[in-house]
Amino acid sequence: MCGIIGCVSEKDCYGALYDGLKRLEYRGYDSAGIAVLGEKLEIFKKKGGVANLSAFYARGGTGIGHTRWATHGAPSDTNAHPHRAGKIALVHNGIVENYASLKEELEEEGERFRSETDSEVLAKLVARAYRGDLLAAVREALSRAEGSYAVAVIAEDRPGELVAAKYKSPLVAGKGAAGLFVCSDVPALAGAADYIAQAEDGEFVRIAGGEIFFYDKELRPLPKTFFRPQRELCALSVAGGGYFMRAEIGEIPRALRDTLGLLKQTDFAPCARVLRGAKRVFAVACGTAYHSALVFADVAEREAGVPVICHTAGEFRYRPPLIGEGELLIAVSQSGETADTLEAARLAKARGAYVVAVTNIGCSSLAALADFCIVMGAGAEIAVAATKSYNCQLLCLYYLAAQLLFFKEQRYPDWFYALDDLCSAAERAFSCFAEADALADGLKSARAIYYLGRGLDLCTAKEGALKVKEIACVFAEGYPAGELKHGSLALVEEGFPVVCVSTSRALAKKSENALAEVKSRGGFCALFSQYGDVLEDSCADFKCLLPALPEALMPAVSVIPLQYFAYKMCIERGFDPDKPRNLAKSVTVE
Ligand code: AGP
Repeated sequence: MCGIIGCVSEKDCYGALYDGLKRLEYRGYDSAGIAVLGEKLEIFKKKGGVANLSAFYARGGTGIGHTRWATHGAPSDTNAHPHRAGKIALVHNGIVENYASLKEELEEEGERFRSETDSEVLAKLVARAYRGDLLAAVREALSRAEGSYAVAVIAEDRPGELVAAKYKSPLVAGKGAAGLFVCSDVPALAGAADYIAQAEDGEFVRIAGGEIFFYDKELRPLPKTFFRPQRELCALSVAGGGYFMRAEIGEIPRALRDTLGLLKQTDFAPCARVLRGAKRVFAVACGTAYHSALVFADVAEREAGVPVICHTAGEFRYRPPLIGEGELLIAVSQSGETADTLEAARLAKARGAYVVAVTNIGCSSLAALADFCIVMGAGAEIAVAATKSYNCQLLCLYYLAAQLLFFKEQRYPDWFYALDDLCSAAERAFSCFAEADALADGLKSARAIYYLGRGLDLCTAKEGALKVKEIACVFAEGYPAGELKHGSLALVEEGFPVVCVSTSRALAKKSENALAEVKSRGGFCALFSQYGDVLEDSCADFKCLLPALPEALMPAVSVIPLQYFAYKMCIERGFDPDKPRNLAKSVTVE
């Protein structure tokens, strides 16, 4: 998703902006641009990678940069940011929902637009409002905009000054040896900023006179505390090269260990009353995080007898809002910046519910909004495909489900103490990689794959399918094994691949029936189970033994060979696993 950066430096800022844009690349983008204010205001922007900008250099201490993920208007040099209007250059992350009517109004007044973007409207509005006071002009312009924004703006006649503002898109300010910054996220300031401060919705940031100032929506000065960012969020390189996704899968045991350490230090007492009294619990998230919410719903209902209503955040927002006072919403998000998840959490809060966030980024917008926040210790996750953060989300949610039971009945579930074994089980799951290599080699030309499971294994099947779709660009569907014969079986023919996850002894025979249905139509079956006898008795063509754990905890481990399999499929098919097409790491627009 779009990333913005702004810098005011005593030296030339071009290098700091370029490096910042390189660090923003992981968010996903299709064009990039830089504006530098030296003797004059110079802008260079190009469709394609940040590296294209290295053909450009301008001297000057004040500048802004942008990585664009196209929403309004195709990826092109013209639609790339920064956008210029009069003396103003502006970069924007978010969507101006009323841009069409604003554009029409401005065109009637004689403005001519170069790009098809919603963002150029903001540049025009700031330029029209600008009479020497940049902060006031940005405020006036943004008062007309509906939707979401994080903007950074400079003016040709104001060297040394930069104004930024935020509403529903992330924005942080940072101080470092290379200068003063604003940026879309903390990892992208790694190495550049030693101290950061978070802007809240409706706030403005102004860099001027070598200092950073924050203002509320009425432009009243706001005190802000700068803090050192979580060190592990700043590790943005892969030792020895290679892909982030592969490195992040390799980090799962470490990430689980660190997350468990954090959970053991977390005091759940502040939310004890809500956990004890919650008659209904809602869980919302998007994508991979949604799959972890599904696991939570199953485990919490089973263990604590509390119905958990689980929705993708985007659906939850537009349903009749059933949630209300005294109820609990669990919002799960690696980034803590996903627009739909944030909005769902805001809606729940507005209706008097208590919001618990599970996130990887302790200084994210979701963490700030939640009544109680569980921060996992996955460390920076750069690859667009979520891997280690999923395993850590599951660990946090197991812990939360256990607390739910504890506050109700003063006891923990049977599997609670086995959480200590997750890390070593994850390590043992790596021994499945050789088999996953062979499976990927055999399936690399597949046009579609079904992933089957029942109960908790269905969540793993869905996550496995999402992974292979996302990075290997193979159509895949995670499906309940028992549903196959109700429709999807129609596609199964000679060689059609079906991956089945079967880690529950009680459900193993049922899943095996589905595999038999596939086999008798000539399909190819791959089976993952923690039970040797389940594998032995199966008709599957390919069998992989998973490490043994209490069944409730299996999703945190059985997914690992599937994550790796997706990675291998991606490599075999010649794609870049870290930058899947059309996708962004942090989806900050609806
Ligand atoms: C996962 O591989 C995806 N990149 C995506 O589904 C992701 O999980 C989703 O966009 C939610 O992101 P979040 O956890 O940062 O909220």
